[in-house]
Amino acid sequence: DIKGMTFDLDGVITDTASFHEKAWHQTANEVGTVWTQALADQLKGLSRMDSLALILKAGHHEDDYTQAEKVSLAEKKNRYYQQLITKLTADDLLPGIGAFLNELRSAGYRMSIASASKNAVTILKQLQITDYFQGIVDPASLSAGKPDPEIFIKAGELLALPPMALIGLEDAAAGVQSIKAAGQTALGIGLAAKKAEPDLYFDRTQDITLAAIHDKMN
Ligand code: G6P
Ligand code: MG
Repeated sequence: DIKGMTFDLDGVITDTASFHEKAWHQTANEVGTVWTQALADQLKGLSRMDSLALILKAGHHEDDYTQAEKVSLAEKKNRYYQQLITKLTADDLLPGIGAFLNELRSAGYRMSIASASKNAVTILKQLQITDYFQGIVDPASLSAGKPDPEIFIKAGELLALPPMALIGLEDAAAGVQSIKAAGQTALGIGLAAKKAEPDLYFDRTQDITLAAIHDKMN
């Protein structure tokens, strides 16, 4: 029986995935890597430094920058991203997510956040939904990012629930892989997630309800 949900944040709860994309696109232009949708999809869910490494690798620029220069490129991206998220308010939940969170809370499901983002706590506050979650994984505590299962394993431990009692929600292929490797049921949203063959698939957040999930599980 499912008793809890482990949520990715960016691209699942709110549309910050598009802000990450916008900010990384700017970094790609700066280092001379051609921006493609395939690259954008591969970046989804990856940690900040893993994302930068992929952008540099895609343009064969990995040896053009020192480690210190890489850190400053990543910091610059984050400053731009942080400017973009200052505008977020409670109105910026993705369609249907507010209703779904309320439905889950009323039905007694436990929820935690499995986001690689060091900005997650700020975003949850701005969206005014921090109280829905019994736990938030600290991404600084991770030894490996998505697709490694560590983040979803920790998100399950925060709820004191075993993997078989959990559904993980993701919009990224790396995230779906992480959920599956953690032994949880993977709910994928959108085409990037679909590529990693989630157990349950939804095109759009507004279709996600407990009834729709139960239908797909049977
Ligand atoms: C999430 C997003 C990624 C982002 C990562 C790190 O997983 O999906 O696109 O790179 O968090 O976010 P941060 O805000 O710490 O740079
Ligand atoms: Mg995401």
